[in-house]
Amino acid sequence: MLEIKNLRTSIEGKEILKGVNLVINAGEIHAIMGPNGAGKSTLAKVLAGHPSYEVTEGTILFKGEDLLTMEPEQRAHAGLFMSFQYPIEIPGVSNVSFLRAAYNAKRKAAGETEVSSEEFEPLMDAKMKLMEIRTEFKERNLNEGFSGGEKKRNEILQMALLAPELAILDETDSGLDIDAMRIVANGVNNYMNESIGLLLITHYQRLLDYIKPTYVHVMLDGKIVQSGGAELALELEKRGYDWLTVSSEEEVIK
Ligand SMILES: Nc1ncnc2c1ncn2[C@@H]1O[C@H](COP(=O)(O)OP(=O)(O)OP(=O)(O)O)[C@@H](O)[C@H]1O
Ligand SMILES: [Mg+2]
Repeated sequence: MLEIKNLRTSIEGKEILKGVNLVINAGEIHAIMGPNGAGKSTLAKVLAGHPSYEVTEGTILFKGEDLLTMEPEQRAHAGLFMSFQYPIEIPGVSNVSFLRAAYNAKRKAAGETEVSSEEFEPLMDAKMKLMEIRTEFKERNLNEGFSGGEKKRNEILQMALLAPELAILDETDSGLDIDAMRIVANGVNNYMNESIGLLLITHYQRLLDYIKPTYVHVMLDGKIVQSGGAELALELEKRGYDWLTVSSEEEVIK
């Protein structure tokens, strides 16, 4: 469903992604790991359509369509979802009204009728229960004053409600306590099925004990330099990133 070919992107003249290739099929979970600053969030933001990044080369197909020509909201309506590494706070907008607006925007784009709050709230209640989010979070302003872990859980709530076909989760596990990690992982696992693709960006092998990846990739300096199965994450945990080099042509000489 997602096909990234030789993707190069720059921001303010600085090249960040230096030729990324990645194919995600429906039913697959891909984990991207890699050191700070490697370009993982950049890849996620480019996929979501962040306007600051310039794509200088390469192509991205989403369900056979050219993703790069689509506006961010068209991408969302087409079934792409991204959870932020740092979710934004929106004072003055309650969580429930934000989520209903997002839900209705997607329905409208699909030619479906919008739902009223009476219709929406039971849907939201059910998903909140699944994510073990207390009822008071419905009326609280979106992410305002939410703890780090509460924000992350709320992102998964959004995902479950918006029902994307491809979900990109950027460090959804960072800052989660052990119970919250289990809840988030359960939420993701519950959501996952053979028609959904998932891209998980994480620093920790621990998340992958709960959410079993089909493939693990390592991003170093704007490129995917190694791919493997779940065992690659275990190896990284033991060995770190030093043993990997940017590419065979440009061996890192120590
Ligand atoms: N506006 C900008 N101007 C200059 N450099 C930028 C800008 N935005 C991002 N970068 C740089 O791009 C690189 C990649 O950042 P990115 O956030 O994608 O890394 P990451 O792999 O997600 O790291 P982390 O694991 O720390 O989240 C970093 O070196 C960052 O400083
Ligand atoms: Mg990041």
